[in-house]
Amino acid sequence: MAGTDINQQENQGAQESRIFQPPPDFVANAAISGMPAYEKLCAEAEADYEGFWARLAREELDWHKPFAQVLDESQAPFYKWFEDGELNASYNCLDRHIKAGNGGKTALVFEADDGTVTRATYQELHERVCKFANGLKSRGIKKGDRVIIYMSMSIEGVAAMQACARIGATHSVVFGGFSAKSLQERIIDAGAVAVITADEQLRGGKHLPLKAIVDEALALGGCDTIRDVIVYKRTGGNIAWTEGRDIWLGDLVDAQAADCEPEWVSAEHPLFILYTSGSTGTPKGVQHSTGGFLLWAALTMKWTFDIKPADVFWCTADIGWVTGHSYIAYGPLAVGATEVVFEGVPTYPNAGRFWETIAKHKVSIFYTAPTAIRSLIKAADVDPKVHPKNYDLSSLRLLGSVGEPINPEAWMWYYKNVGGERCPIVDTFWQTETGGHMISPMPGATPMVPGSCTLPLPGIMTAIVDEAGADVANGQGGILVVKRPWPSMIRTIWNNPERFKTSYFPDELGGKYYLAGDGAIRNSDTSYFTITGRIDDVLNVSGHRMGTMEIESALVANPIVAEAAVVGKPDDTTGESICAFVVLKQARPTGEEAKRIAQELRNWVAKEIGPIAKPKEIRFGDNLPKTRSGKIMRRLLRVLAKGETITQDISTLENPAILEQLKEAS
Ligand code: PRX
Repeated sequence: MAGTDINQQENQGAQESRIFQPPPDFVANAAISGMPAYEKLCAEAEADYEGFWARLAREELDWHKPFAQVLDESQAPFYKWFEDGELNASYNCLDRHIKAGNGGKTALVFEADDGTVTRATYQELHERVCKFANGLKSRGIKKGDRVIIYMSMSIEGVAAMQACARIGATHSVVFGGFSAKSLQERIIDAGAVAVITADEQLRGGKHLPLKAIVDEALALGGCDTIRDVIVYKRTGGNIAWTEGRDIWLGDLVDAQAADCEPEWVSAEHPLFILYTSGSTGTPKGVQHSTGGFLLWAALTMKWTFDIKPADVFWCTADIGWVTGHSYIAYGPLAVGATEVVFEGVPTYPNAGRFWETIAKHKVSIFYTAPTAIRSLIKAADVDPKVHPKNYDLSSLRLLGSVGEPINPEAWMWYYKNVGGERCPIVDTFWQTETGGHMISPMPGATPMVPGSCTLPLPGIMTAIVDEAGADVANGQGGILVVKRPWPSMIRTIWNNPERFKTSYFPDELGGKYYLAGDGAIRNSDTSYFTITGRIDDVLNVSGHRMGTMEIESALVANPIVAEAAVVGKPDDTTGESICAFVVLKQARPTGEEAKRIAQELRNWVAKEIGPIAKPKEIRFGDNLPKTRSGKIMRRLLRVLAKGETITQDISTLENPAILEQLKEAS
C-alpha cells in the first residue's frame, strides 16, 4: 500500500460535471431499465446476499448437480461459492444453446489480419471443441492437469480454452507477446503437461514466431512436466520439430469423434490460472473457479452489455488477458451471443480498421481500451480518411471501455464520433483478480459522467477506506476495497496461498476486505467512483499491467547493470510509459554511447519479459537518489521522469547531486 499519495493524484473524473443520460429508447429495452431497476437489484443483494447470488446462479447457469451451499466462509479469505454444485463451463457455453434450438446461430466471426472472414455456428464450434477435447484426452490429458495456451487470436484459440474446460483441465493462457523466459516461468509455476500453440501469428501483415518461442522456452530447462506441444498451423511458416513431443493440431483432432461428454466438475474447480503482475516478485498465477467465474461472465454480458439475441458483440482484447477470458472465450458464448474475434491490430492496413470492421460485421456492441481510442484519435487527426465519420457505424448501440482510466476528452470523442451521441458508454473498472466488471454504468440506467466508472454492479460491495480500513467520506481519496466476497473473485494464487492472503486481504485492513490495489474517490454529489490509479508499484501501459520490480529485475540481470529503478510516467497515448533509471557497472555513458546502451537494454528487457515491458526511456546516473538508510526514493524519480521540478523535502537524501544527472533523458 505504500507508494503514491492518493490525495495528490489527479482525479479529473471526480470533478467532471457533464452528465449524459442514457437514451430513452435504450432504457426502454434494457435488461436493467432505469435507476429504480438497478437500485432494486442492489437492495435485493443488501437484504439477502446469499439468496441474491443463489437466485442468479440458478437462473443463469445449467447445473448438472444443483448446489445446496451458496457461500462458505469457514476458511476465509479462501471463500467458496456453490461448492457442492456440479457443472461444466463448455456445456454452458455450447451444448445448452444447441439444446435450445440455437445450434445454427453464428457463435464466432473470425476476422483475420488480412481481412479474411471465417464463421462458426454454435453447432460447428461444439464439434470443434469436442474433437479438440477428445484429442487432448487421447494424449492422456485429464481433469486437473494444467495446459498452457500460447496462441494467436483465432477460433482455435477459443476452442482450445473451451476444450480444456470440457475435460476439466485448467488452462493458463500466456499472451503471445511474452518472451520465452516469461513463458518458461509460467510453464514451471503451473506444472503444465502440454502447450497448445501455433506455428506463427499474423499481426499487421507480419509473421511473428510462436512455436519457435515455445521451443526456446522448453530449451531453457525445468519444464519436465511438459509431454506434448500441440501446434495449430496458422501460416505454414518454417518451424523446428521435435518428434514424439510435437504434434499438429489437425493430426490430433481430425479423426476424433465429434462428441465428447463434458467432465462435470465442482463449481470450485479451477477453470483457469492467469498470470498477472504484482508490486513485488514474480507474476502471480491468479486462480479462478468454474461456477462463480462463469456466472459473472454471463451476468455482466446481460447487465453491463445488455446483450440481446440479435447483437453482434466485439471485444478487441486478446485471449492472453483477462478481458479475453471473460468477454471473448466465455461470457459471450455463455449467453449464446454472436461475437467477432479479431486477429489483427487497430492500425493495419490503416487506422480505420476498427471502424471498417464494425461496418463490415454490423457490430452493435464494441468494447475496447482507452489506449486504442487515443491512438486512433491521433491517427484521424493526421489522416482524416481514417476518421470514424467516413464509415457506416449505424449498427452500434453500445460502447465500452476497459483496462485503464479513460480521460474525459477521449470519452467525448468516442461518444460523439464513434457512438454518434446515441450509444451509452460503459467505462468498466475491473481486474484480472475480479473475473468480471466491478464498477460500471448500467447502460440503460446510469447517467454517465466522462472519466467516471460510476457505480458498483448490484451485489458488488465496493468502498473507499483509509490506511486503517475506516470508510472515508465522499470527496476524499482513499483505497478501493470490496467488503464482501463475490462469486467471480480470485480464489488463490496458484502455488502461493500465503501471498494471496497478504496481497489481497492484508492485516492492516483487518484481513476482511479485498484490496484492489487502486486508489479511488467518490463524487460528493453523485457518489460516483473515479479510479485515481494504482497505489502500489504496478504500472499500466496501454492497459497492460506490469510490475516495476519485474522490469528492474530484468534490467539488473544484465551483466553491465549495477542497479535500476523503474517508474511510470504519464503518457498521452499509452496512459503510462516506462521510465528506467540505470546505474551501470562501468562509468556513466553519455551521448551516442548512452543511446546505444539504452537500445541494448531495451532489447534485453524484450527478451527477458516481452516487448510490452520495454522502457520507453532510460536515463543513466552514477547512482540513484537514496535515503541515508539506502532506500531508493522513487517519489523523486517519478517527479524527474515527468520532467517536473522537485519541490519535495530532500533533506533525507544521501546524494542530492545525483538528481541533476537524472533530469534529462539520455
Ligand atoms: O488500475 C486498474 C486498471 O487496470 C488494473 C487491472 O489490470 P488487469 O488486471 O490487467 O485487468 C485489466 C482488464 C480488466 C486495475 O487495477 N483499470 C482497469 N479498468 C479500469 C482501470 N482503471 C480505470 N478505469 C477502468 N475502467
